[in-house]
Amino acid sequence: MRPQSYRRDRRAPSPLAVPSRADAAALSGGRTMALRRVLVDRIVRSCAARAFASTSASYASARDALKEERPPTADELAAIPRERTRNFSIIAHVDHGKSTLADRLLELTGAIKRDGSNKQVLDTLPVERRRGITVKAQAVSILHREPSDGQAYLLNLIDTPGHADFSFEVSRSLSACDGAVMLVDATQGVEAQTIATFYLALDRNLAIVPAANKVDMTSADVERVAKQMERAFGVEREDVLEVSGKTGHNAEKVLSAVVKHVPHPSGDPNGPLRVLLLDCHYDDYRGAVNIVQVADGVIRKGDKVTSCASGQHFEVLELGMMTPERSTTDAMYAGQVGYMITNVRDVRSSKVGDTLHMKNEPVEPLAGIRPAKPMVFQGLYPVNSDDFEKLKAAVSKLTLNDASVTAQTENSTALGAGFRCGFLGLLHADVFHQRLQEEFGAEIIATAPTVPYRIKHADDEAYIDCTSPLAIPSGGFPSKGTEIEEPLVEATIICQPHVVGKVVELCMDRRGEQLEQNFLDDSRVILRYRLPLGEVAADFADELKSRSSGYATFDYDDAGMAKSDIVRMDVLVNGSVVDALATLVHRSKAQRHGRDLVARLKEALPRQLYEVALQAALGSKVIARETISAMRKNVTAKCYGGDISRKKKLLEKQKEGKRRMRRIGNVDIPNETFAGILSNKRN
Ligand code: GTP
Repeated sequence: MRPQSYRRDRRAPSPLAVPSRADAAALSGGRTMALRRVLVDRIVRSCAARAFASTSASYASARDALKEERPPTADELAAIPRERTRNFSIIAHVDHGKSTLADRLLELTGAIKRDGSNKQVLDTLPVERRRGITVKAQAVSILHREPSDGQAYLLNLIDTPGHADFSFEVSRSLSACDGAVMLVDATQGVEAQTIATFYLALDRNLAIVPAANKVDMTSADVERVAKQMERAFGVEREDVLEVSGKTGHNAEKVLSAVVKHVPHPSGDPNGPLRVLLLDCHYDDYRGAVNIVQVADGVIRKGDKVTSCASGQHFEVLELGMMTPERSTTDAMYAGQVGYMITNVRDVRSSKVGDTLHMKNEPVEPLAGIRPAKPMVFQGLYPVNSDDFEKLKAAVSKLTLNDASVTAQTENSTALGAGFRCGFLGLLHADVFHQRLQEEFGAEIIATAPTVPYRIKHADDEAYIDCTSPLAIPSGGFPSKGTEIEEPLVEATIICQPHVVGKVVELCMDRRGEQLEQNFLDDSRVILRYRLPLGEVAADFADELKSRSSGYATFDYDDAGMAKSDIVRMDVLVNGSVVDALATLVHRSKAQRHGRDLVARLKEALPRQLYEVALQAALGSKVIARETISAMRKNVTAKCYGGDISRKKKLLEKQKEGKRRMRRIGNVDIPNETFAGILSNKRN
């Protein structure tokens, strides 16, 4: 397959139309509606032309910014013509060095200082910095002087996350791009996410600039990696740039390749306004800050715009670009990417993928962005049930910033009031838990992850979503014709040839169906499997790592739904059902899963003064059982005679411990037990 590096030239802009006196007269004279619209269009176009001419002074000052090596202002950037604008992204497998290379590109173009202190500057969230991963895509506008023609170019760089959970962020970023730098770590080679993101880019017909990164390392093998890229993506050896994000080696060649191979944005600068809403985050002071791309036309501060999705009107209060700090400008033109603040503060009014148009000038919406779809649901409960209100405030604030998380209140007999939240994957859920804890001090218990199933009763037409085990009655539905569907994924796995057997065994154990098995080169095999999401969401990645000594990588994409024999498995403690421990499993796996769960519960539960029976059951049928034998716990036993205050202290301590427990039937279950048992590990 040929790479899309040298894509067809985009059509040239149409000549601008200036309204004549007759046009204006026709407009005020009120001829037919159709004519009116044509004329309004032409006037809008001419305004765009005039606006552009007036910004040529700013363009000259953009060149000054280059000379002075200072970050350009948004006014200067907005003045750069569309022909010298490039929107591109850096795509790669996790940890292959996207954010580090982005740092070097920002330094090279003067957007940030070259003092050696920059480390993944686009990873702005505290959790991103601590974990060293990118969670949210970031956009930054930079000014680059291309040595081959001496011209100033506006480059909008969109840094994307690499982990499979965040492929929605990647696909969203790519919607705003015309090209992508595809980085491959030269010490590792092509990995599963390299392939997955390459296909996302290919779907969008993006130009690809291939690059082998980390060439400063002694273990880098550029020739091997270039061969793999040739085999997997059809790129030619001479097109593969050899770069180092760490030392900045050849970073300038990356910028030149972007200018040369990535086409300029294709929108119509003279057409009616169409703005694509790429992202939205919440700012404590300004409310919703929308990241937008002007697809066609011009948008100005003060314009009244309308959402195609909701029909809601907004007034544009501020426009600007990220340089990487916010820098304001009065107008943005077709092809440019920047931020927009409106009079509506609530982020929920901003639907990612929505098209905005000028008020009362309706347009055909742009091909939107695949909406974020939660793949994993979990119940989140406060450790101390009195803290529900605190958790509620934290969840609503955090979901304002991360629109891909869904949250609904739910009640559990064991854990009290909490939330059922939907996440893009387990890493996303983990990041959310960590943010709740670090940014809001909220201590939580998270229930076992459930994937979104669908249920259809015999006499119903449509399926209904099922995101909680409690939506399915214990023992199954009484009516015979009820169907349950489970979500499937198509997984790409890349591993070494000698571990293929173990990987295939794992996929078969997880009810997988093989779609492809091929050699990438003599040291890499690529496998593609269709697997139930429920089998992947739990601990598939960990298991894959352990079977391949850490070398196999995998990525997955949505592959629809399929009928499945899913049952609800309950856990009973001394005969009482613990609703927070209920899980949905495939019938063929229920017994194994049940045995594992009660065995772990036995290990985790403290012994009681009486015998405790732990059971896993499908309805009334018990499928696994463990017993915890009785013990007598007298906390004051060691205090012989005398000191009553010491005894009181021990009893107080015991009372405090009990406060941190949930009573199920006649058994106290410590909160840590819930947290431990509900983690996603299983046999
Ligand atoms: P995600 O955002 O999590 O997908 O990671 P990323 O692809 O943005 O990778 P990141 O830039 O965070 O780099 C991952 C690790 O590789 C960091 O420890 C970097 O310091 C290191 N690294 C990145 N580029 C280079 C390079 O060119 N040479 C060397 N030696 N190390 C590099």
